[in-house]
Amino acid sequence: MNEVMKTIKNRRSIRNYLPEQIKDEELETIIEAGIYAPTAHNDQPWHFTVIQNRELIDFINKESKELMKNSEYEWMRNIAKNDKIHLLHNAPTVFVVSGRKYAISPLVDCSAAIENMLLAAESLGIGSCWIGLVRSFFTKKDNIAKLDIPEGYEPYYAFTLGYKAINNVKAPERKRDVVNYIK
Ligand SMILES: Cc1cc2nc3c(=O)[nH]c(=O)nc-3n(C[C@H](O)[C@H](O)[C@H](O)COP(=O)(O)O)c2cc1C
Repeated sequence: MNEVMKTIKNRRSIRNYLPEQIKDEELETIIEAGIYAPTAHNDQPWHFTVIQNRELIDFINKESKELMKNSEYEWMRNIAKNDKIHLLHNAPTVFVVSGRKYAISPLVDCSAAIENMLLAAESLGIGSCWIGLVRSFFTKKDNIAKLDIPEGYEPYYAFTLGYKAINNVKAPERKRDVVNYIK
């Protein structure tokens, strides 16, 4: 299998990290992968907030869970009540990815950048996990202010990075019946 396919297939959502911080040069390589993602109209409508501050990471977890207690979904309320769950998996590095509000397709472009970064991380042997469950955190202006995001951008998603504390995570089975061919 070629190296790109190997990286794509080996990437897993990692939810267990070593406390050791990743190296700055690894971080820079991952960011480089993000900014080389394709974007509509070459807008590049993203901003990346790199958080390596334990206090803020834990605050995002705590505050997101607090807000999730009011969710309309029972499964979310159950996660919020579970003290054992850290929404950011205690990772040493967390990215918040924000998009420029009036770009053509900022959410899609930011998502492409996130996937590029997760794959770059895997290629460096670094674990990652895309995090949607912190979106409740972004519903409060005071919370967003803590992230120091530039004017005109809004946060969409977070993802975690860190050295893996567990390897050989099994891939959830993929649905295969998702293609039709017209020749
Ligand atoms: C938009 C999005 C949001 C996600 N949110 C979370 C999350 O909040 N917490 C988490 O542990 N995993 C989250 N995931 C990871 C998925 O659960 C994971 O990608 C899926 O189960 C497939 O597993 P794999 O990434 O190992 O292939 C998210 C993935 C995506 C694309």
